Amino acid sequence: MIKKFLMTPGPTQVPPQVLSAMARPVIHHRTSEYSELFARVNENLKYVYQTGNDVLSFASSGTGAMESAVINLCSPGDDVLVAACGKFGERWRDLADAYGLVAEFHEYEYGEAVNPDDINRSLEANPHIKVVFVTHSETSSGVVNDMQAIGAVVEDFDAVLVSDSISGLGSAEIKTDEWMIDVVVAGSQKALMIPPGLAFVSVSDKAWALAEKARSPRFYFDWLKARKGLAQAKPTTAFTPPVSLMAGLDAALGLIREEGLQALFHRHIIMGRATRAAIKGMGLTLFSPDEDRSSSVTAVRVPEGVDEARLRIHIRDWYGVQLAGGQGPVKGRIIRIGHCGYYNYSDIIVAITALEMTLMDLGHPVQLGAGTQAAEKVFAEDIEATGDETV
Ligand SMILES: Cc1ncc(COP(=O)(O)O)c(C=O)c1O
Repeated sequence: MIKKFLMTPGPTQVPPQVLSAMARPVIHHRTSEYSELFARVNENLKYVYQTGNDVLSFASSGTGAMESAVINLCSPGDDVLVAACGKFGERWRDLADAYGLVAEFHEYEYGEAVNPDDINRSLEANPHIKVVFVTHSETSSGVVNDMQAIGAVVEDFDAVLVSDSISGLGSAEIKTDEWMIDVVVAGSQKALMIPPGLAFVSVSDKAWALAEKARSPRFYFDWLKARKGLAQAKPTTAFTPPVSLMAGLDAALGLIREEGLQALFHRHIIMGRATRAAIKGMGLTLFSPDEDRSSSVTAVRVPEGVDEARLRIHIRDWYGVQLAGGQGPVKGRIIRIGHCGYYNYSDIIVAITALEMTLMDLGHPVQLGAGTQAAEKVFAEDIEATGDETV
């Protein structure tokens, strides 16, 4: 028997409470019952986003909400700035190209972070830049950008700041209002702990002012239509929502509220810290930065002489652990262990044990237990420091 452990940075594991909420009979979306659920979901999304801004929901994957930001904020020919440090940052450039925007493109190596000073310099040099697009948690490398510092830079200009927090919201803290992030994009299949299929955007007043003037063609992803639905006495969506996913989200947000944001972020920091300690403990090299901010995904260099595809197939087929590979220029060179969402110490121990055994099976020298011991030490230190045994 193979027991499966999904350890990718999306999709992620879904808690049983969420699965059973999604299995309930489908309700109609133009009913008071649905409006009540939707209103509760909207309030709880604001809690996770740490915002008083509207949070709009769309039935799409995360990229749909990214596209919605481009078409609702920009008109063809607009100047925008894209700061990219990986595969998902590059997606902003591709979207800007698709909609005829003039994008100034800051490109950083995979594994590096965006430098807020570069954004400052570009905004000073070109006051026509309307929107700055950045990735908060760059899932392809494990880098988490300093959105607080970037927010503090963009605040001084007319430009609107858009953050792709698809793998960050709910795992790497983002204080939407306090850090002045105008638009935060998120997706359902990461730290929000539900299956793929829902995407979200929060929109500040500064971003609404731009959206009211933008002229890119749009229909399904029109933020103004979505806002109208939200403003009803019985809030609703312009089009048929995925009601079962929404029921799952309602349950997942309930779990997040129960845990509390500070405990949630702390748990993610500890999972990241333990995973990094384990990787170093077993003699491998980290690709993602060795810092607590990188709490959604840990990227690891594949050791010399080990075939990355073979490693991932072996660990999946023999030990049931699904990891992610590298993308773009680091394809074949790194593996990625996801720990955003419904993860605790047991998942990390399983993944690390399976990785050690896989390396041994593939003939790579490894001391069994060295990684798990290092992870256990992090968990023990955390229990000692906090007195909380629920890692
Ligand atoms: C940071 C980031 N941006 C964008 C995406 C794309 O989201 P989706 O595949 O849901 O369209 C992902 C998905 O992995 C992501 O992690």
